[in-house]
Amino acid sequence: MRVTASVAATAAAAMMAVPAVLAASQCNEWSPCYREGYCNSNAMFCMWGLCDSSLSYNSTSCWQPESCLSQTVDFTSSSDAISIDNYSGNPANNAFVSVFDPDYSSVANGNLVLSMKYDSTQGKGFGATVDATHTFLYGKATARVKTASVANGVVSSFIFRSDVTGDEIDFEWVGKAPTQVQTNYYYRDVLNYQLMIPYTMADTSADYHDYTFDWSADQIVWSVDGTVIRTLNRADTYNAANGTYAFPDTMGRVAFSIWDGGNSGAEGTEEWAGTPTPWTASTVYSMYVESITIECSGSTDTSSSSVDDQTSATDTDGYSSDAGSGSSNGSGNGASSQQKCIPRPTAAY
Ligand SMILES: *[C@@H]1O[C@H](CO)[C@@H](O)[C@H](O)[C@H]1NC(C)=O
Ligand SMILES: *[C@@H]1O[C@H](CO)[C@@H](O)[C@H](O)[C@H]1NC(C)=O
Ligand SMILES: *[C@@H]1O[C@H](CO)[C@@H](O)[C@H](O)[C@H]1NC(C)=O
Ligand SMILES: *[C@@H]1O[C@H](CO)[C@@H](O)[C@H](O)[C@H]1NC(C)=O
Repeated sequence: MRVTASVAATAAAAMMAVPAVLAASQCNEWSPCYREGYCNSNAMFCMWGLCDSSLSYNSTSCWQPESCLSQTVDFTSSSDAISIDNYSGNPANNAFVSVFDPDYSSVANGNLVLSMKYDSTQGKGFGATVDATHTFLYGKATARVKTASVANGVVSSFIFRSDVTGDEIDFEWVGKAPTQVQTNYYYRDVLNYQLMIPYTMADTSADYHDYTFDWSADQIVWSVDGTVIRTLNRADTYNAANGTYAFPDTMGRVAFSIWDGGNSGAEGTEEWAGTPTPWTASTVYSMYVESITIECSGSTDTSSSSVDDQTSATDTDGYSSDAGSGSSNGSGNGASSQQKCIPRPTAAY
């Protein structure tokens, strides 16, 4: 289910506290990174995939994409996931960043915990989204997850997503179907509601299970506890009308998210997630990630061909292939932000 986070929408909602939208050319040296109408120097704006290189201060303002790293993150250290506000741009220090404010994610008892609480001003739950700091293009990702499918409307997800192109590979769990995991994918943000496939299993909120997607240039294989539950062949996504394959093939990041589908206000989403989501002032819904193992198999040299391929496929997005080549470690350290224009997004996907 696609509900994309938008800085602009959030900023508009909080316009009282926000300076005027800046024109593209107005990003200065101290707030060099452009994203959705605003300039800033912190990771929320400068991280590759979020930052629009063509409209930033100069062609090297956006941080370059961090190479894929084969690793297991077991969430035993609080530095494994931090608020993006405190992320300085070095993925070696922090494997994940939490992007919402308030930040309802934490590292606790050997888990990454993503929680959702009631937001009375919006009349719905406010969740959490945690993004990997390393990029990913082909390889295997296995997350050991206990979902928040304990009540109608609560959506948990483990996904790969490219914010640049809209390619996405999903595991999603909806509160109304605790004994189900749904697999899905998107190609270039094209909405197609025919692509989701549910798989019935044990209660996903009762125990941890290993959820794996194994992605190559030829196929995506989704597995649960080592059992293949779905295979998508690139060859089967061929569209003869225009000679394209509707198959995810661009660089992005893996991410976890919890959000309120049951009170989303969108009829289709509410029906899909279960509705309404039951809330009291003190209700907290949580999903738990015990570990994630990444095995990169594509090019890990993200500064070369993979970026160019992606850029040429999406030139209208204006993301430049040389994004950030001059600042491998994040020249715009969040801690020294000169100008903090807007709050972090409040919408989840
Ligand atoms: C971009 O601006 C930074 C900061 O002023 C500077 O160090 C860098 O050399 C500039 N890069 C280009 C390509 O102009
Ligand atoms: C950033 O780190 C500081 C120092 O550890 C901490 O006090 C602050 O709460 C952190 N900010 C966020 C948004 O987590
Ligand atoms: C190819 O056709 C499909 C189906 O009409 C469409 O969704 C997609 O955007 C097209 N791709 C291109 C590159 O035109
Ligand atoms: C990152 O940049 C800061 C500030 O320029 C510098 O002090 C630090 O050594 C750099 N870290 C790495 C890992 O390059």
